[in-house]
Amino acid sequence: MTIRPDALQPELLQAALQAAQNVGTPCWLYEAEPIRQRVAQLRAFDCVRYAQKANSNTHILRLLRSQGVMVDAVSLGEIERALHAGYQPGTPDHEIVFTADIIDEATLHRVVELGIPVNCGSPDMLRQVGEAQRGHPVWLRINPGFGHGHSRKTNTGGPSSKHGIWYDELEDCLRLIDELGLSLVGLHMHIGSGVDYQHLHQVCDSMLDCVRRANRPLAAISAGGGLSVPYRAGEPEIDIDQYHAAWDRARVEAERITGSKIRLELEPGRFLVANAGVLVAEVRAVKKVANNHFVIVDAGFNDLARPAMYGSHHDICFVTRDGSPVSGYVGPTAVAGPLCESGDVFTQADGGYVEFRDLALPKVGDLAILRDTGAYGAAMSSNYNSRPLAPEVLLDGGELKVIRKRQTIADLLGLEA
Ligand code: LLP
Repeated sequence: MTIRPDALQPELLQAALQAAQNVGTPCWLYEAEPIRQRVAQLRAFDCVRYAQKANSNTHILRLLRSQGVMVDAVSLGEIERALHAGYQPGTPDHEIVFTADIIDEATLHRVVELGIPVNCGSPDMLRQVGEAQRGHPVWLRINPGFGHGHSRKTNTGGPSSKHGIWYDELEDCLRLIDELGLSLVGLHMHIGSGVDYQHLHQVCDSMLDCVRRANRPLAAISAGGGLSVPYRAGEPEIDIDQYHAAWDRARVEAERITGSKIRLELEPGRFLVANAGVLVAEVRAVKKVANNHFVIVDAGFNDLARPAMYGSHHDICFVTRDGSPVSGYVGPTAVAGPLCESGDVFTQADGGYVEFRDLALPKVGDLAILRDTGAYGAAMSSNYNSRPLAPEVLLDGGELKVIRKRQTIADLLGLEA
């Protein structure tokens, strides 16, 4: 089975129809098997640490844990999710790591209490961890001075990025670590989401430069996340062997420099889950605007924010309620949501320009399936326009399971009681 077949597979289509029937629309539908296959593709890495920000549903976390995947958390909420899913804190192989640029008091208390290593993205954060607990395990997240992303907003390196410790500050941070008696586990670099092979060797060289300057034994280095996935038919898969080979060479060299055994960690989010999810919505209006058509569905950017936020592309298929692809008139069509915002359009390019795709026009009541939304889909949803969070459904071994119920309007109002 290919992880991202060009056409929607019959099993997924049937599951989408069933999910829409069972929990209503909009809803998120994930498939377990492609997630397992993605994990298997990364077996060469010593440790795969899932960046759960991509999709932090505890059932997805449990599935990944059963495949031997460790986890990264970026907030207290994500730590609690990892614990809820069965991840064990404070173990020698560090099942949970906390990565951020700041740490608040409540989170500081929790990581110290549980012995969760902290991947520090600022000298202040390092100081705060050291003052809270001498000997606490830390990583240094380094900004190597350059970055790369599928959008300016997902580039996490270079002088305009708020992320990580600027590479020049490494010596100061090492001094702080010694003064505060912290225990340095490893060095980490995540330059952004959307891998570019031209940058790969530059990042590996930068990592080695930092390893040399650290001049001390390390237990691990982390290549961060950012592995890209296909979002369009025919788009190539990233070459994992090439990616691993470059980093593994860096790992071996780092072992030679430090004289210590070094574990190579990878921290993917999207790679593990993006292609394994779809958003299912219902067509509620089809209207003509000049020579274009707008198909308006019952999901909006409060559900799927990526097109509005980055101009991200998601393939959209329309199907009838009996599962047949919509056929007939094909014309320039934009697909939009119900929000009171002109930007609530799923077919748009970076900069907010509405894109009209040649799509067969559906009818009211048909379903729209927005593909490759398993990562940064439900995870980035909001309650904008007082719309409740959509439910999540998991397809595993032919069975559909509701893994998150639909939020209700009463839930929203309850917080204001
Ligand atoms: N590690 C760190 C430190 C990160 O900041 C991120 C993503 C990852 C790993 C995982 O990156 P991934 O493998 O998923 O590309 N909302 C955007 C992506 C923002 C990612 C932020 N950090 C999107 O929808 O494309």
